[in-house]
Parts: sequence; C-alpha cells; structure tokens
Amino acid sequence: MGKAKTAYVCSDCGASFSKWQGQCGECGGWNTLSEFVVEPAAKAGGSVAASRRSGWAGQADAPTVTALKDVRHAEEARVGTGIGEFDRVLGGGLVHGSVVLVGGDPGIGKSTLLLQAVSLMAPRLPGLYVTGEESLAQVAGRAARLGLAVDGVHALAETCVEHILQHAAKMRPGLIVADSVQTLWTEELSAAPGSVSQVRESAARLVRYAKETGTAVFLVGHVTKEGGIAGPRVLEHMVDAVLYFEGESGSRFRVLRAFKNRFGAVNELGVFAMGDKGLREVANPSAIFLSGSRGPQPGSCVMVTREGTRPLLVEVQALVDASPLSNPRRVAVGMEGNRLAMLLAVLHRHGGVGVGDQDVFVNVVGGIRVQETAADLPVLLAVLSSLRDRPLAEHTVAFGEVGLSGEIRPVPNGEERLKEAATHGFKRAIVPKANAPKRGAFKELDVIAVERLGEALEAAG
Ligand code: TYD
Ligand code: MG
Repeated sequence: MGKAKTAYVCSDCGASFSKWQGQCGECGGWNTLSEFVVEPAAKAGGSVAASRRSGWAGQADAPTVTALKDVRHAEEARVGTGIGEFDRVLGGGLVHGSVVLVGGDPGIGKSTLLLQAVSLMAPRLPGLYVTGEESLAQVAGRAARLGLAVDGVHALAETCVEHILQHAAKMRPGLIVADSVQTLWTEELSAAPGSVSQVRESAARLVRYAKETGTAVFLVGHVTKEGGIAGPRVLEHMVDAVLYFEGESGSRFRVLRAFKNRFGAVNELGVFAMGDKGLREVANPSAIFLSGSRGPQPGSCVMVTREGTRPLLVEVQALVDASPLSNPRRVAVGMEGNRLAMLLAVLHRHGGVGVGDQDVFVNVVGGIRVQETAADLPVLLAVLSSLRDRPLAEHTVAFGEVGLSGEIRPVPNGEERLKEAATHGFKRAIVPKANAPKRGAFKELDVIAVERLGEALEAAG
C-alpha cells in the first residue's frame, strides 16, 4: 500500500484542497476544513478515483463514445413507499438503486418516517434497517408501538460499513436505511466516527454498493439546512436526492422538502403531522398553514404560494411597532431577511409608506419557509395592515412579485393559485395584472388585478 495522500475537505461546501487553510477558498467558511485521507488508487474498491470510475451499475467495459439516442435506457423503475406525501417528494416513488439523504434536526421524526416507510414497503421491497443510534429492542419497540407490520423487515445494529455490506451481500435487501450516517465508519480510515472524512467515505461506499447492486439506500443525517455541526452537506454531491425534514419546535406539523432530486422536482413539499401513532399524512395542507384565527386580524395576509407542484395557502403575519432603537429591527421568520429589507425600501420609495422608525417582524405561519417571490406582495400588505392597525377585508388572498421600481410582476401558475383560493372559500384576490384570468373565469372570487404597488396598497384599503 502506497503512502496515503491527504486532502482537506470543507464540511460546509465539500470543496477539497491540498493544503490546510483557515478559510475555505470556495465558500469562505472559517475553520471548516478537515483532513481526509485519499487512499492509493491501486487499492481495490477503496479510492476516490475508483469510486468515480465505477459510476453506474453495469459499466464494466471501457467507456466508448455513443450517440445519446442510441443509448438504451429504461424509465426508472419506482416503488411506492406506501406514504403518498413521501412519494410526492421523491418524485413519484422510490427509484431502484437510488441514494436518498434525509436530513433534519435531531428529534424531528426521521427515524419514525423511515421505519414506517420500510415497513410499508417490505412486502414489495425487503428492507434492512441499520441503526447506529438505537438498540434493536428500541427499534422493535417503536415499530410495535406504531402498530407497524414488520414481516420482511430486517434490522441490524451496526456502524461499521464493511460489516453492514457483508450482511447486505448475504441478505440482498432491496432497500437499506442507514440511521444515521454520522455513526458510520469504515475500517479503511483511522479518523474518528462522525468526522467528515468517515461520514463521507462511509457514505461513498454505500453509494457504490447501491449503484452496483441496484439497492435503494436511505441515508439519515442529523443536519440542518444551514449545514449543521456534523457537516454532511458534503454528502449532497454524492447522492441522488436530498430531502430535508423540517418543522417548528412545539408544532406537530412536519414538512419534507426535496432540496435536490435527480428523479423529480425540487422544492416539492410533503406535509405530515406527528401524533401518537407516528407520522400521518396531511391531506389538505392549505388548511393547516392558515393560522385558524377567527375573523380578520391586523397584520395578517393570506398568500397563495406554490411549492413544488401544488399551490398552498399560507398566512403571513407582520408586526410593525415603534422602535426604541436607533437601528430598528427587521426580523423575518420563514422568509429571507434581505428580501424583507428590500421590500420595505420599495414600500417607502414607491408606496410612500415609511417604516424607518419602526421595528418590523414578519412570520410565515406553520413553520414553513417560503422561497418564491410570489410572497412579496402579501408580505407588504401584511406590513401595511399592521402599521395602520387595520385588517385586510375578510377572505382576501394575494400573491405577486414586487419589482424594485414598484411594479407588480407576474408569477408562474396564476390561475392554479386562484383556483386553490376559490376552493378554500376566499372571495377577493389581489394579483398581478398579467396573472389575472379572463373576466368571469371565477364566479365566487373577485380578482383585483394590479400593475403598480400603489394600486395594490389602495386595493388593500
Ligand atoms: P425520531 O423519529 O426519533 O426523530 P429523529 O430520528 O429525527 O431524531 O422522532 C422523535 C420524536 O418524535 C420524539 O421526540 C417523539 C416523537 N414521536 C411522537 O410524537 N410520536 C410517535 O409515534 C413517535 C414514534 C415519535
Ligand atoms: Mg433517529
């Protein structure tokens, strides 16, 4: 065995450097580099280079150039997880041989979700649930408490990847769940389990195994979207799909979001509620994101956002209050802070409404994060409503992007959003002019089409 080469890998962005440095040259993170042993290429199945070469299953021959139209391919074969919301986020079920990273804060419900899915899939896809955090008795106890059928589900309390793969080679499951990837280690590296190099190399082995055998793999990772201390963001590049499981502490609702998906749409949302029988799908998510407050309240606006492939009604709340500080606070929960600052500047410059001496707090109800620009107009309407201490007219919804010159810009799928609002009994919609439907398209819904911020503020009353 040749002398081991080392590389320094950033735990935030996964960039690799030959020398250690205090700041990552790619993402600018401080103290994020840690040592990673790159094994000599000659060693069978062990090197980074080998893992690149092995690629997809069945590519044993030397690569040749082929016209893409001549390449034989099949539609990805998918297996339903038995949980509709989970399938939706995966892009229509689990693809054979795919590797899916499920990340989220500790205690959010990752193990629960995967145990339920493994159990439901077992009759069609025999599963091996590998746990490095809980004992087998704990896993079995949870399955019993949740009333899960466990025929065809096998469990293994093991953290060494080589041992896991030996068991898998014997049992030949169709699906492996590794819970969690932070506990895995490989005999090839001397670094401590949980270190970036161990997590990365262990995951790489499972990825290789998945591609070679067509086994689907779920990697569970304790990680927040911001990166988390254990840093398995380095895994995002290696896997086919990255799903984040999110939820507000104290709320029983959980949102599963596709952050990357080679086999489906990103930003697709699956909504669940955690109960005493585990995770339950939420059939009508629009209803839960409305705060449920009786009657119109100042500082509240319902918007129609579109996350993934379906529209959702979500309430956005604002609190505007005279600030004792020379630098008033701007706090955004569930949306980007910079976007809020920009919107407030547009509101001042083009709407003639200044909040320079006010604290502004904005919260998206239900613990979801809204990333699309359609939230701009509802956010400003909520801010205005709080500032004036006047509620919007009852049963009003809004959506639309606000441009820097005060124009209200259209957003995709306007009609579908309006339909969702009408379905849930809304009577008035303030929308971009270019999104307005033909006259009379919605009988019950009074659509107010606006082109400029001024018109929108006027319509809000
Ligand atoms: P868990 O799946 O262990 O979270 P993770 O694997 O993401 O760390 O879920 C743990 C939490 O879920 C725990 O605080 C208890 C709660 N829970 C329920 O409320 N109901 C249930 O039926 C189960 C199994 C867990
Ligand atoms: Mg767990």
